[in-house]
Amino acid sequence: MKAPSPVSLQTRLTAIAIVLLGWTHCAPPPEIDPDAGVPPGGPVPLATDPMNGQTNVFKDKVIRITFSDHLDSRSLNVDRIDLYSGPVNLYTNAFYDPIRSQLITWPSATMRGSAIWIFEIEEGIVGIDGLPVAPGVIMHFKTGEEKGDNTPYIRRSFNSEILPIFKQHCGQCHGGSQGEGFSELQLDTLEGIGDTAIAVHSQQWTGWQRISPYRPGRSYLLYKLIGDARIGGTPMPRALDFDGAADPIPLEDQIALSDWIATGAPFFDPEENAD
Ligand code: HEC
Repeated sequence: MKAPSPVSLQTRLTAIAIVLLGWTHCAPPPEIDPDAGVPPGGPVPLATDPMNGQTNVFKDKVIRITFSDHLDSRSLNVDRIDLYSGPVNLYTNAFYDPIRSQLITWPSATMRGSAIWIFEIEEGIVGIDGLPVAPGVIMHFKTGEEKGDNTPYIRRSFNSEILPIFKQHCGQCHGGSQGEGFSELQLDTLEGIGDTAIAVHSQQWTGWQRISPYRPGRSYLLYKLIGDARIGGTPMPRALDFDGAADPIPLEDQIALSDWIATGAPFFDPEENAD
């Protein structure tokens, strides 16, 4: 076998350098400056997972972008989310989780391994104030050869996780001795939640549902838990002496509620639906 001549080696190195330069050129790092404050625009991306430039990323990685303010999930047209590697463009799924302030997206097919992928959010996605996402997102990462993170949804048990949260923190006013509950919202029984919360319109944010199955980002109840600046009334839970809001419920409980809504707010438990 003939050893490669110095010329051809040099040619090859030059070619690699050109590829690398070209690569850097077409995928600049995202211009994210958390210290810059929020510009007078829409939500700003604060962090991405995977991080920009990360390597050895799982081929089925769920991509999570954390924002400084809430997205309007009506604007989450997946055509505005691009995931591509060279000529290969993968269709993505997406939903917005207001508790984590995260846009959660994942490819519809496994990404090619050992390849550079570019993730991009195009103009059009806006925050709940209607202002466009600024400054937009573009980032790249490189896949490895393994799979391992393909769970955008975390399944929760209605009976052992969700109902106890509502009973403990909300039932005193939304159910129990209060009957139907304040704002005609009953949260201490399965029937009450089904009849007065799931897919029922909010009185305060008309046009939104209290719990919109599969769409935590369109579920007003979650914005009441966070105490979003734009809600009507007080954040929930309200103080039992009715003097303003009580402390927010624990973050892990808020996360459980958001996860449950993202899976469609089902009443059966994950193990019951195993068949
Ligand atoms: C101490 C009583 C009290 C507690 C506890 C309480 N709420 Fe409320 N809730 C109210 C009252 C009163 C209103 C109407 C006025 C307001 O929104 O501030 C209300 C309104 C709401 C609304 C708005 C309904 C609509 O149609 O717009 C939601 C959603 C809600 N509560 C959810 C919850 C959740 C979830 C919890 C438990 C984490 C909870 N509340 C705990 C008293 C309470």
